[in-house]
Amino acid sequence: MKRIAVLVSGGGTNLQALIDAQGKTLVSGRISLVVANNAGAYALERAKNAGIDTAVVLKKECGSQEAFEARLMEILDKNGIDLIILAGFMTILTERFTSHYPRRILNVHPSLIPSFCGEGYYGLRVHEEALRYGVKVTGATVHFVNEIPDGGEIIAQKAVYIEDSDTPEILQRRVMEQAEWVLLPQAAETVCVSLGG
Ligand code: GAR
Repeated sequence: MKRIAVLVSGGGTNLQALIDAQGKTLVSGRISLVVANNAGAYALERAKNAGIDTAVVLKKECGSQEAFEARLMEILDKNGIDLIILAGFMTILTERFTSHYPRRILNVHPSLIPSFCGEGYYGLRVHEEALRYGVKVTGATVHFVNEIPDGGEIIAQKAVYIEDSDTPEILQRRVMEQAEWVLLPQAAETVCVSLGG
């Protein structure tokens, strides 16, 4: 059983999908730790309700990006984490962090990469831009994380149709329901299996 840490910043619906998948889609790994960069993240409640250990690391308390990443690494390594999942973790991680965990960090992004991705594209903003552009199909992507924002190898993608009456909020919800919450647990399982041992 691989030890998974999930890094979160907000509502944590993707974390919930992972929790709910344990023992079903996700059988080769177990969520051992949830780390938030925001003490008010509702995701922390979801973790506590599921009996999962939590930690909060605040960038402003660490004083610098370097110290923030060092603190994250210390916590992850102390907990013997095999796989890190960014599930709505709204901060960029630099090469200092990503190179420490090659092919061991996953991210879920709410578009079909390479559309609507990279620095500045996160959360609702991604769906606003998809609607503004007028694409008729969007979706979600799970990918490995490297030093390029949203630039790591793609593991899985799922398409979702856009409807004429969509608002960013309605589209966000459909992408989550039809794509993110399905793809992320499946991808986590695939990667846990590939880690072997
Ligand atoms: C999700 O839609 C996730 O794909 C997105 O933020 C939302 C978090 O929701 N992540 C990004 O935009 C990262 N670039 P959640 O907290 O309910 O899982």
